[in-house]
Amino acid sequence: MDKIRIRGGRPLQGEIQISGAKNAALPLMAAALLTDDTLCLSNLPHLADITTMATLLAQLGVVINLNGQSTDDGHIGRVLDLRCRDIGSTRADYDLVRKMRASILVLGPLLARCGQAQVSLPGGCAIGTRPVDLHLKGLTQLGAEIDLREGYIHATAPRGLQGARIIFPTASVGATENLLMAASLARGRTELVNAEREPEIGDLARCLVAMGASIAGIGTETIVIDGVERLHGARHAIVPDRIETGTYAMAAAITHGDIELIGADPGLIGAVAEVLDRAQVRLEPTNRGVRASRKDGVIRGVDIITEPYPGFPTDLQAQIMAMMTVAEGAAMITETIFENRFMHVPELSRMGANITVHGSSAMVRGVGSLIGAPVMATDLRASVSLVLAGLVAEGDTILNRVYHLDRGYERLTEKLLACGADIERLKT
Ligand code: EPZ
Repeated sequence: MDKIRIRGGRPLQGEIQISGAKNAALPLMAAALLTDDTLCLSNLPHLADITTMATLLAQLGVVINLNGQSTDDGHIGRVLDLRCRDIGSTRADYDLVRKMRASILVLGPLLARCGQAQVSLPGGCAIGTRPVDLHLKGLTQLGAEIDLREGYIHATAPRGLQGARIIFPTASVGATENLLMAASLARGRTELVNAEREPEIGDLARCLVAMGASIAGIGTETIVIDGVERLHGARHAIVPDRIETGTYAMAAAITHGDIELIGADPGLIGAVAEVLDRAQVRLEPTNRGVRASRKDGVIRGVDIITEPYPGFPTDLQAQIMAMMTVAEGAAMITETIFENRFMHVPELSRMGANITVHGSSAMVRGVGSLIGAPVMATDLRASVSLVLAGLVAEGDTILNRVYHLDRGYERLTEKLLACGADIERLKT
């Protein structure tokens, strides 16, 4: 397993190209199952999770062609043509689903397209048990019959899917996406009440509309879908990755640097910009994206609570914690979305951070400096928080299990090297 070595202390200067959003690309790829036409997706990031989803879709009958790099829409990501003339299989095997939980997003489209699906239950992961009960309850309300056997979801819709009013007891990004796709081909009207409002969901909805779906209330917590007979192909450029944007903005801040994030959309990071502003980090919109730097030389400790969009995203909690370890003052960071998303705390503490965890809150007291150390990546966002800490620590940090990073950060080493970081990937 590869490692990454970082020697800290260098301010990052220059520019970083922000890739298309992983968490938009995954449901958008699954949407290709909804039509027998070609769905052309551009600005696709080159990530392990995207490759896993492509492998799964190919097993289901989707023909995928890499169609070069997108240039016409101002993005740099890859262009994929996905076409599912016929569903070849309706089974998503455990060996793929366990590698990437977002595989559950083929469930709704398969049911809508051909009335059946056998999808492995995803199981938990490092950050939590990650149940899918909200997905299954919603699909049942659309008329699906769900049977859980031997670790698999056996779903059928013998009479097709029928629109319904679905009220989510708690908001879920994936459940909103699965039901949005299923309802697009259901008979009649579906209302998704207490839906999540993440920009990646809006991106999916706008692509579905381009494919012929009838959707109202995009970006609000009540989405209304009037099912149609069939969907056709479309071309869609994937929204920039707001989590990658926030991550590299914090890389600039923690190293006392100045980075222009090319392709970033400041409109997607309102809550992040507000928190960073309080921490004395400047995010300045430019005509190419967003520029990140410290305001007056000191990072101030600020309290943060993670919330569903438009609140502060849980996917940036580990990263801002890394930044707070070297802030002036203290920061109380409360994680409200996942039950075990502090796996980065013991690793940051090994680098000299002063963090005390009480239940779902962590009190971070700023220290003068961190000391490089060998550390272990446990999940995608915890891994990148250790990279941020390594960029500011004295001496060398060796990050193990970097495959976690490869799932969500395209060309991370190259992007940081280009801004002056002393970082290298060690092939082992
Ligand atoms: C999506 O996961 C993202 N993944 C996650 O990003 C992100 O952290 C999360 O949304 C929250 O924003 C993708 O989009 C591929 P949820 P998802 O359903 O859909 C509970 C990353 O680092 N829940 O909104 O799985 C669940 O346990 C990843 O890029 C149920 O109880 O998240 C959690 O506590 C990590 N029952 C909360 O809801 C359900 O049926 C939010 O989960 C579904 C979820």
